Amino acid sequence: VAAPRDAEIREYVQTYYGQVLKKSADLQTNACVTAARPVPKRIWEALQNVHEEVILRYYGCGLVIPEHLENCWILDLGSGSGRDCYALSQLVGEKGHITGIDMTKDQVEVAKKYLDYHMEKFGFQVPNVTFIHGCIEKLGEAGIKNESYDIVVSNCVINLVPDKQRVLQEVYRVLKHGGELYFSDVYASLELPEEITTHKVLWGECLGGALYWKDLAILAQKVGFCPPRLVTANLITIQNKELERVIGDCRFVSATFRLFKCPKTEPTKRCQVIYCGGITGHEKELIFDANFTFKEGEIVEVDEETAAILQHSRFAQYFLIRLLGEKLPTSGGSFALELKDIITDPFKLAEDSDNTKSICVPEVAGGCCGTKKCC
Ligand SMILES: C[S@@+](CC[C@H](N)C(=O)[O-])C[C@H]1O[C@@H](n2cnc3c(N)ncnc32)[C@H](O)[C@@H]1O
Repeated sequence: VAAPRDAEIREYVQTYYGQVLKKSADLQTNACVTAARPVPKRIWEALQNVHEEVILRYYGCGLVIPEHLENCWILDLGSGSGRDCYALSQLVGEKGHITGIDMTKDQVEVAKKYLDYHMEKFGFQVPNVTFIHGCIEKLGEAGIKNESYDIVVSNCVINLVPDKQRVLQEVYRVLKHGGELYFSDVYASLELPEEITTHKVLWGECLGGALYWKDLAILAQKVGFCPPRLVTANLITIQNKELERVIGDCRFVSATFRLFKCPKTEPTKRCQVIYCGGITGHEKELIFDANFTFKEGEIVEVDEETAAILQHSRFAQYFLIRLLGEKLPTSGGSFALELKDIITDPFKLAEDSDNTKSICVPEVAGGCCGTKKCC
């Protein structure tokens, strides 16, 4: 098979997600059903309110619901049948807004079909969700304006797009300053050989177009984002003998990263921050990424880049931030924490995480990644 060109890939992906697959169970690998860490109760409840046909046609690989969403404007790239949009709709509230964009007509139709159902269920007078049929590499053509969103999310989509840099450039353009791309996707342990990138089923299953994980940081820097912050990672076990043969030694991971649009900083200085609490659902503790968990009232030593993200993003009002050496007011004890090495490798994080020990509670209907566990 010759290397598929962009238009061919687009057409193939539309057929795959529009006609070949009718439900998550039709997938031929478990790339889209990798268990994420336990889902917080508020999010789990929001997911439970989503219509079962929408859930049935969910093909994500992670949980793309960050913290502090009240009144936010969020864009979901490759929104599919709309599961994440409808969950986010409840969390941003009636004054926030969610836009879902997807190029597969059948999926957009399913998403739109249940708009009234969900708005009524959430008790919203004016709908706060809009679905657009369009391509995520061409957000301008879809009418998405510069600096118009607080957050962009995406769940298992960017791997399906050949020109990933263009997608990131578009995201950077439409994000407000201080905004973030919070996204789950599939990454490869090496630069993929042609045998994998030209394999149509592997491409459709979100493996053939997976980025070599180290390339994400390079792309992010080129586009202007701060370095990627790794949130969660889970190894993908293919569980399909024929496809495993084609894949050979390559390994895949589903990982959630956050990319912030913030001013550049000197990487040398160190800072201290105190989380003042107050973020709904995270009053006592904010798990920011795999490296930093901020407990209310506790001093945490961070690199200047992390401090800059906290200072320039929607989290700013919840933190006290000082250059190291300046005295911070504290309600509790003071902790001089050693600055840790930042974990950036999703394979290492996935191997280190012992997911089997997480506490399980009932499955959400049609459970897929990010919905099987709750805490
Ligand atoms: C693996 S599914 C995930 C869908 C959804 N995020 C979810 O979690 O259910 C990938 C989706 O990305 C969409 N997609 C792929 N490439 C796209 C592109 N270039 N522009 C817009 N949508 C795209 C597909 O149509 C499909 O609905």
